[in-house]
Amino acid sequence: MEIIITKNYEEMSKRAASIVFSQVALNRKSVLGLPTGSTPLGLYKYLIEAHKKGYIDFSEVKTFNLDEYFRLDRSDPQSYYYFMMENLVNHINIDTKNVDIPNCMLKDIEKECEDYEERIKAAGGIDLQIIGIGNNGHIGFNEPGEVFSKKTHLVDLKQDTIEANARFFSSIEEVPTQAVTMGIQTIMQSKRLLLIASGLAKAEAIYKIVKGEI
Ligand code: GLP
Repeated sequence: MEIIITKNYEEMSKRAASIVFSQVALNRKSVLGLPTGSTPLGLYKYLIEAHKKGYIDFSEVKTFNLDEYFRLDRSDPQSYYYFMMENLVNHINIDTKNVDIPNCMLKDIEKECEDYEERIKAAGGIDLQIIGIGNNGHIGFNEPGEVFSKKTHLVDLKQDTIEANARFFSSIEEVPTQAVTMGIQTIMQSKRLLLIASGLAKAEAIYKIVKGEI
């Protein structure tokens, strides 16, 4: 594990973008795992900028998202699908066929979870998985203490996660109470993993990750 400490959010975002940049430069068919949240917005901004300048070509890149709210339509601005379209996909030359996000509107969600794992496998696995972290240490929507053997699955969101994410909704009642998330096993199977975190609210979770027990 390498720990990179940067001066501020902008520097963190640039550094993260340079890691994605070098991954895609070395392998234009890279498979990336992507997060949502406010943390990766700077990274996405730098990736879009680099793409516009012609420095990075996403035409053969595939992406898989970490998670998605259960039963939130893809046209809902709070869905992670919508987030990815708005903040990255619509601004780069990725083929939307290659952008995969769990489809939480499908009737048989267990099958979608299994299929998602299969689709990741069929793509050759994730070369570089980027993740954020919740204030309480949740990854994707895996709450702290989650077993390592879990693959993509449906989770009930903890109250503090619902409260933390309520800032994006007009009221807390609108926050979905369930989500589909890659499991810790799915995440750990990635060839490389980049966790980005910024701000005081994340300090305790990062401290525990670095210094605490697994
Ligand atoms: C959500 C997402 C996580 C993300 C977390 C932190 O709960 N499911 O994947 O890491 O929020 O978000 P932020 O980056 O806005 O602090």
